Amino acid sequence: AVLNVRTRDGQIHQVEAEAGVSIMESIRASGIDELLALCGGCLSCATCHVFVDEEFAALLPGPGEEESDLLESADNRKANSRLACQVMFGDGMDGLTVTIAPDS
Ligand code: FES
Repeated sequence: AVLNVRTRDGQIHQVEAEAGVSIMESIRASGIDELLALCGGCLSCATCHVFVDEEFAALLPGPGEEESDLLESADNRKANSRLACQVMFGDGMDGLTVTIAPDS
């Protein structure tokens, strides 16, 4: 399946995504290096911050409590902010589009 990733230069990259794998892992595996994901998905760094395009919001279960708390500490938090390591790709999410949050 395809995951669309908008990098900070505004370009959209098509990334191969697999059900059951976090979108952070798929983005990293594709070679995009703007998503630091420093903690490796341990829910402690918030450097995997992305914005989910509105039209796909309904496809995703909302953030859990811990994710929400950590997002509080992230700069540029928006209503559609997510931590990419907590977003599992699932069937029916083909074409999901996310934007990598600004650096600071
Ligand atoms: Fe650190 Fe997601 S990779 S919180």
